[in-house]
Amino acid sequence: MEKIVSVKALDKAGGHFAVKVGDETIFVARGKNGYHAMDAVCSHAKCILGQYDSDNMTVKCYCHDAKFDLSSGKMLEPPFVAPNAPKDKLSLRLFNVRDNEGFLEVDVD
Ligand code: FES
Repeated sequence: MEKIVSVKALDKAGGHFAVKVGDETIFVARGKNGYHAMDAVCSHAKCILGQYDSDNMTVKCYCHDAKFDLSSGKMLEPPFVAPNAPKDKLSLRLFNVRDNEGFLEVDVD
């Protein structure tokens, strides 16, 4: 587990942000039932995610609107420039994340 930032940073960032941890860039968000962490690099063309919908736990890519499920990492909607993209092959990796005495820790191993 790698300590990345105070949980208070999520308040200032509106409940989500992308952060570099080691070699990974990770999208971190506060959900209804805790914290979530997913690869922040879009599987389509490597843009950094994204627009967070906390009600539906989804993240939309700013570049071409691909939508990802933050709970599973699955691509829910393909990029508008590639409507036939194989969504099942374009999932993003999830990371374990936890609050350890006020600091978020992400497992990047
Ligand atoms: S780079 Fe994300 S949808 Fe194209």
